[in-house]
Amino acid sequence: MSKFYITTPIYYVNDRPHIGHAYTTILADVLSRYHRAGGEDVFFLTGLDEHGQKVQQAAEKRGVAPKQHCDEMAPRFLELWEKLHISNDDFIRTTEDRHAKVVQDILQMVHDNGDVYEDEYEGLYSVSEERFITEKESETGEFRDIKKLKEKNYFFKMSNYQQALIDHINDNPDFIQPKHRKNEVLGFLKQPLGDLCISRPKSRLNWGIDLPFDTDYVTYVWFDALINYVTATGFGTDDESYNKWWPCEYHLIGKDILTTHTVYWPTMLMSAKLPLPKSIFAHGWWLSGESKMSKSLGNVVNPLDLIEEYGVDPVRYYLMREMVLGQDASFTMESFIRRYNSDLANDLGNLVGRVSTLIDRHFDRVIPPKGVLTDAEAELSKKADSISDLVMDNISNMRLSEAVEETLQFVRAINRYMEQMAPWKLVKSDTGRAGTVLYTATDCLRQAVALLQPIMPARCEKILHMLGLSMASAKECLEAGTPLGNFEIPFPKIELPDKDLDKVKDEKENVMSDGKISIDDFAKVDLRTAVVTAAEKVEGADKLLKLQLEVGGETRQIVAGIAEHYAPEDLEGKTIVVVANLEPAVIRGVESNGMLLAASSDDSVVIVTVDDTKVGSGIRIS
Ligand code: ME8
Ligand code: MG
Repeated sequence: MSKFYITTPIYYVNDRPHIGHAYTTILADVLSRYHRAGGEDVFFLTGLDEHGQKVQQAAEKRGVAPKQHCDEMAPRFLELWEKLHISNDDFIRTTEDRHAKVVQDILQMVHDNGDVYEDEYEGLYSVSEERFITEKESETGEFRDIKKLKEKNYFFKMSNYQQALIDHINDNPDFIQPKHRKNEVLGFLKQPLGDLCISRPKSRLNWGIDLPFDTDYVTYVWFDALINYVTATGFGTDDESYNKWWPCEYHLIGKDILTTHTVYWPTMLMSAKLPLPKSIFAHGWWLSGESKMSKSLGNVVNPLDLIEEYGVDPVRYYLMREMVLGQDASFTMESFIRRYNSDLANDLGNLVGRVSTLIDRHFDRVIPPKGVLTDAEAELSKKADSISDLVMDNISNMRLSEAVEETLQFVRAINRYMEQMAPWKLVKSDTGRAGTVLYTATDCLRQAVALLQPIMPARCEKILHMLGLSMASAKECLEAGTPLGNFEIPFPKIELPDKDLDKVKDEKENVMSDGKISIDDFAKVDLRTAVVTAAEKVEGADKLLKLQLEVGGETRQIVAGIAEHYAPEDLEGKTIVVVANLEPAVIRGVESNGMLLAASSDDSVVIVTVDDTKVGSGIRIS
């Protein structure tokens, strides 16, 4: 059985956890669950970084001892992880004895290897940043609490390993991911690498692990913290476990801590003659507007509030779907609600509701027999047969948002199949055939839900129960005669206020009054080309079609009043033009995110289509 060891950063305990911490931890959890489901032996580590000046200051501010501060903060993280259904195998705190011992052992190894020396340094020191800064930096105004300091300290000869590190990065293309981060580090390594100050005199800071070779000093917090990844494997105490797990498959980090993980850490390991991690993956930041969400900026979303309001799984889903790994993403309530309604309430939730209701009504609440399969079933089965490999391939290449999107595309294909076969009509004429359709759709739904389980463990399990299944039985094809469980709407729709529609109307009237708009006004309209990936009628509305679009790598849904002029199948695959930055609206209970351009006269409507255009590219009309 192959093994998979994955870590998150260990978070500072200077404040309560925020959405950024929740994100990396959920990401590690989701990857762990996929790998476990794939039959691998997984070790998932997270924890807390409890030493150093930041933590000492946070404790001072609260008027408690540092250890007490840590003991009071740690449960907040643990409670959040529990609420978020984090399935970590270990939780490490750097104040634990098991860790101090390993840090001292490794320091001694580096020292014995001749890579530690003493030096006196005089310069400007920023207390807030906890490091010496240059004269120039001190003038930028970005640093608080600057003091002149003269200090004797211990240094790690990081510079000794500069070339070895460059070679390692070049020889192991997956060592630093994604690629643009690797290039960033290689760029940084073109400059001569300095040595690393690894001590803090106790006269200035005593909240840390003693240096084994000089107890007047504590260890620099990063030299201490990074070692947690090795401590947790049982280094020095349990060789079997250490040899089994180290090196890890992935260190997941945010891009804010790239240098410490890709330069300090590997050179420390080289000096101690220990193997290097297989990959370090740096994801982007969750932004609020233009800036990073961070505690110091005070613009963070509290994950607990979100969970309280919308449930854990929708939050997990949103975070995994919305961030393309390696890039930044903006967190907005609007995009959260939009994503929830379109993917979860509509695509997935409605499908669950539909099959359950029909089986309940027409088949005595038991799974109908498979019956005789036709081409339509064969086509859907083809998708079903490849979906699992497709998703797992995306997962092993860290394309998580794509894995989710592939699964949702599959859900949409099941919905289209239901729409085309219309089992609600078939039950009147051909019950056997209706049974086949419902069997097929439900069996495909089972597979989709099993694939979403690592992302939404609780709700997916609930859905499986509604279908009369458990996590274990979800691996096998449905068995006719299995009774359904109790039905519950899995993702109740979040209603958006209709005021959005009124606002659009008012603006239209303003423009009409003088007839002309400025080029600036026009420039506000974000016109984009989009490919129609699916189209269907809106139930109970003769004029409306619901379209699924691919716009610049993103999917969205719009509702258009063109059903009298176009059949859904005429539109699939066409490249159309949409107004992409229209505020979302709910039309006949269906969410619409944009409008399409069409030429119309009294009795005809022709949609504007484009040939050979790069999907999603902005267009300009000249
Ligand atoms: O740096 N978007 O701890 P930390 C995405 N203790 N992820 C974010 C984020 C955001 N806006 N904000 C934080 C430390 N994160 C050290 C680590 S490891 C040996 C020591 C996540 O509490 C992201 O994973 O500042 C980032 O790298 C981490 O939290 C920083 O957490
Ligand atoms: Mg930070």
